[in-house]
Amino acid sequence: MEALALERKAEQNRELKERLLQLKKERNAIILAHYYQRDEVQEVADFRGDSFLLAQKAAQTDADVIVFCGVHFMGESAKILAPNKKVIIPDERAGCPMADMVNVDGLRALKRQHPNAKVVAYINTSAEVKSETDICCTSANAINVINSVDSDEIIWVPDKNLGDYVSKFTSKKMIIWEGYCNTHDMLTVKDVEEMRAQYPNAQFVVHPECRPEVVKMGDFVGSTTAIIKYCKESDCKEFIVGTEDGTGYQLRMDSPDKQFHFATKYLVCPNMKVNNLKKIVKALETMQPEIYVPEDVAEKARLSLERMLQVK
Ligand code: 13P
Ligand code: SF4
Repeated sequence: MEALALERKAEQNRELKERLLQLKKERNAIILAHYYQRDEVQEVADFRGDSFLLAQKAAQTDADVIVFCGVHFMGESAKILAPNKKVIIPDERAGCPMADMVNVDGLRALKRQHPNAKVVAYINTSAEVKSETDICCTSANAINVINSVDSDEIIWVPDKNLGDYVSKFTSKKMIIWEGYCNTHDMLTVKDVEEMRAQYPNAQFVVHPECRPEVVKMGDFVGSTTAIIKYCKESDCKEFIVGTEDGTGYQLRMDSPDKQFHFATKYLVCPNMKVNNLKKIVKALETMQPEIYVPEDVAEKARLSLERMLQVK
């Protein structure tokens, strides 16, 4: 961008931020932003975090309005956990293709085939699917959740990659759904090998939504939060990051002296990126789009989410 255009954009952002502060106060709103959001969104958030932390924040807030900057299932989880709050999202097109890979009918059919199994659903699922599950989990607590379940047989939906990773830390039999994250699943062994050749001093840190053979290459494997913490505390100064590139915002903030390399040709979730500052302001002005979850669905889904929040 040329200098004048950059200046104009900076001025627009300043005006938008002022308007946002005023609206937040008027509405008694908080802004929650996932680590995969654009920098301009993470910058104005009251809380940045992974799926787990944001679900906790939604459940605990005193605000009247939650602006959820992430993807649709995250807004739904916030609404389920905070049913008396208004939950709005900047753009209703922000869906999660992985969450759409499992539906209630398919899950019910699998439950009929395995009547003794308990269902563990990744939080990346619709409210309806959550309402058919025993407990939810995120990538941050998946292993503890699986091992907390009172059954030796688990139906796991929808992420086959995370399911494969988790299965290595439990003796339970896991029946794994064939879903995956379109973004993380794109990263290949060859990509990592190429980046390792380019950055020989870097460690490879990887999210378990990546393919098993890629996860196996990791010097460290963990959820978005775990990756950020590991990089901050490590003595290593350079990292190849196997998760969505928005994570760079927090990584650079926590570790300004370190270098982070992303395979950005793949690791950009287009769904996460539809939200921007302008849309947050508009959502707070119009109080739309609002998230609704039918109460009968929410009631059952809430049990699964609350059980997850209780697992240590
Ligand atoms: P976490 O927020 O649990 O790291 O999950 C990553 C993700 O893909 C969210 O959509
Ligand atoms: Fe869904 Fe993957 Fe995007 Fe997360 S990164 S919202 S799992 S598509």
